[in-house]
Amino acid sequence: LPRLGVIGLGKMGLLHLGIHSALAGEPLSAACEKDAVVARIARKAIPYLNVYDDYVTMLSRENLDGVIVTTPAQTHAKIILELVATDNRISLFVEKPLAVNHDEAKKICESVGRSNSVYMVGLQKRFAPTFSKAKEIVAKGEIGEIQFFKGHVFSSDVLSGGEGWRLKSGSGGVAVDLGPHIIDLILWYFGEPSKVTGLSKSLYSSVEDYVHATFEFQNSLIGSIDMSWSIRNFRLPELYLEAHGTNGALVVSDDFVKVQLDNAGMNMPAGLHVFRRPELQPSVPFLLAEPEFTLEDIAFRTALSNQKSSEPSFLAGAKVVEITDAILGR
Ligand SMILES: NC(=O)c1ccc[n+]([C@@H]2O[C@H](COP(=O)([O-])OP(=O)(O)OC[C@H]3O[C@@H](n4cnc5c(N)ncnc54)[C@H](O)[C@@H]3O)[C@@H](O)[C@H]2O)c1
Repeated sequence: LPRLGVIGLGKMGLLHLGIHSALAGEPLSAACEKDAVVARIARKAIPYLNVYDDYVTMLSRENLDGVIVTTPAQTHAKIILELVATDNRISLFVEKPLAVNHDEAKKICESVGRSNSVYMVGLQKRFAPTFSKAKEIVAKGEIGEIQFFKGHVFSSDVLSGGEGWRLKSGSGGVAVDLGPHIIDLILWYFGEPSKVTGLSKSLYSSVEDYVHATFEFQNSLIGSIDMSWSIRNFRLPELYLEAHGTNGALVVSDDFVKVQLDNAGMNMPAGLHVFRRPELQPSVPFLLAEPEFTLEDIAFRTALSNQKSSEPSFLAGAKVVEITDAILGR
């Protein structure tokens, strides 16, 4: 069994701690949390967990194969560089975004460039049933040559001023926080764009609350997306993408994939095909939050056991950051 430690016992840290413990059939025993109050509560609530206040000490004392980094985005680069400097064979799973700007992302990729360990970014939409089904349909060319796409990622998270690292310049903004999910899907489905532009606006916070981005590709595909966490009535964030091609159209969200084909495709007859999430839902050995989190954690564990890399890799995560920088004009 891979021996794993978690850095940052916030929302995502506790989620991955829970899933990995269930998958392993035994609790993880190493964690690091900087906030003294959270660390004290964690020590009391989870007595088998050795909670460190410093991850370099955790790494040198615990005999770990991999570390899961679930701290705020602006801390990722510093933490990863220090972990790799301490143990250049440690495998890493880092929650999205890999880093808050491309300079940092590049440094991270250079620091791990010569090692064969596993380096994965938590862009779990690739493991979500509807988005992975849509990938399969796009990759098979069912809707023909894709001409344009449009999409959005919306939430109601910021409808008034607030506090926290997500709303701080340099660490936050909707393109850095929610954006990676939709940008990663665009790269995964359509490849790398040749030109990207963006427009952004602050509405309630001092960072970008609304961002519009356009994409152009070598093969004449074009597309646009809107990203905002200041749209009313989204109890959960919604990710939506539609692609129009020479043989039809595809619409995908967290809940469904709809495909309308003019003529029979490679594997699908002409007409309307609707796949709803419950029908596509994969069975997972342990369900906490959505199955995609369990599936990405299984992918990380499998990659560790096989000593083979797994997507989305650090390079894929760095590409997302590069596109985000281009959208934000920095
Ligand atoms: N994949 C997703 O859908 C998804 C969803 C939410 C958040 N995230 C990402 O997960 C990461 C964490 O987000 P969150 O919502 O769990 O944040 P959070 O604020 O709930 O938790 C972060 C924790 O890290 C701790 N921390 C900060 N610096 C530290 C350090 N140097 N050493 C040890 N601990 C430290 C904080 O005290 C806090 O407890 C971010 O990168 C975020 O973008 C991903």
